[in-house]
Amino acid sequence: MATLQLRTISKRFGDTEVIKGINLDVNDREFVVFVGPSGCGKSTLMRMIAGLESASDGDILIDGQRINDVGPADRGLAMVFQSYALYPHMTVADNMGFSMRLAGVPKAERRAKVLEAARILQLEPLLDRKPKALSGGQRQRVAIGRAIVRNPSIFLFDEPLSNLDAALRVQMRIELARLHDELDATMIYVTHDQIEAMTMADKIVVLHDGVVEQVGSPMALYHHPRNRFVAGFIGSPKMNFLPATLVDTTPEGVTIRLPGGDERHVPVDGRHLAADTALELGLRPEHLVLDEQGPLSGEIKVLERLGGQTSLYVQMGAELITIMADGDVAFRVNDTVRFGFAPERAHLFDGEGLALPSLQQHPLAGLTRHDNRAPGTAEEPA
Ligand SMILES: Nc1ncnc2c1ncn2[C@@H]1O[C@H](COP(=O)(O)OP(=O)(O)OP(=O)(O)O)[C@@H](O)[C@H]1O
Ligand SMILES: [Mg+2]
Repeated sequence: MATLQLRTISKRFGDTEVIKGINLDVNDREFVVFVGPSGCGKSTLMRMIAGLESASDGDILIDGQRINDVGPADRGLAMVFQSYALYPHMTVADNMGFSMRLAGVPKAERRAKVLEAARILQLEPLLDRKPKALSGGQRQRVAIGRAIVRNPSIFLFDEPLSNLDAALRVQMRIELARLHDELDATMIYVTHDQIEAMTMADKIVVLHDGVVEQVGSPMALYHHPRNRFVAGFIGSPKMNFLPATLVDTTPEGVTIRLPGGDERHVPVDGRHLAADTALELGLRPEHLVLDEQGPLSGEIKVLERLGGQTSLYVQMGAELITIMADGDVAFRVNDTVRFGFAPERAHLFDGEGLALPSLQQHPLAGLTRHDNRAPGTAEEPA
């Protein structure tokens, strides 16, 4: 059992504040993913949780106990970094058991724990090999094995898969998700990979410039981003943004004028705004629909055929709009296309970049990875 709480945690390096008063609750056995642009403070936050970096302000609590002054080795955590150094002269088994040897754990117990970790990570046939005789993915698993044998209450992963090729990443992603189910440990995971974040997380934390922009389930962040930053950051390819003008508001939603002059009704709450307010309309590439009667149009500048899907990059005024279309669309570059969108798929942002709240909560917004399991296959998190 392990919960983690951050209470107004800050970190200053000299005069520069890189973590700016972060509050966060991580529940027991939750899989929490940190995402955000390079330099936003993900690794610094992880290192503060691990005890490798002190907090300038605020409290870090594990199971309700303040641990700011507890050393890294006594926090009950294990961390796996992007660059994991294995001892080259030691076998896989010795690499995994080394921390236990240092801690004076008896040999039989060490052996048992290494074998258990090797079973979970499918490393049993490789236990007697040296690291140089392993593939990148196998080495990565040894690094994770070193963390598992320590039986931590919380795992911290900082981009553990970023050195691997695409196929191995997929395999390791699935193995880590399985590992989480099998160990039922609390895990905090940093990644740049949208698919890892969306598929592994119970809860995603979007960081930006040392602050938390939004915390929520993957589907909640995708369907209900609270501001333009989160909207543009979660989802791949990125959300398109177009200028729009507020025409009218009612309790059922707002009417907006689109760049081409057409008007559309969108079910969001804009009652605090005056007519003629300039807004931004956010439309995801996968929600744009080619339609000869559609209200939007532009000229195709680039066309990418991916097989099952085709990406169209369409010039609309100053904006280059991405449309994910069917793989077999017959268009070519320089063709003009018309397209539209379902109103409930549209996002609107005010002058401060805040989303106008949706009046239709998406039915899947509360789903997490655990909800995808068949009932009874594993214990639900508390
Ligand atoms: N020891 C340090 N001294 C001074 N500044 C630091 C130190 N460590 C990190 N920083 C700064 O703190 C900010 C956050 O760095 P951090 O490594 O946490 O970012 P990150 O979100 O992990 O980025 P990336 O995605 O590139 O790994 C950066 O601007 C970085 O330059
Ligand atoms: Mg980092």
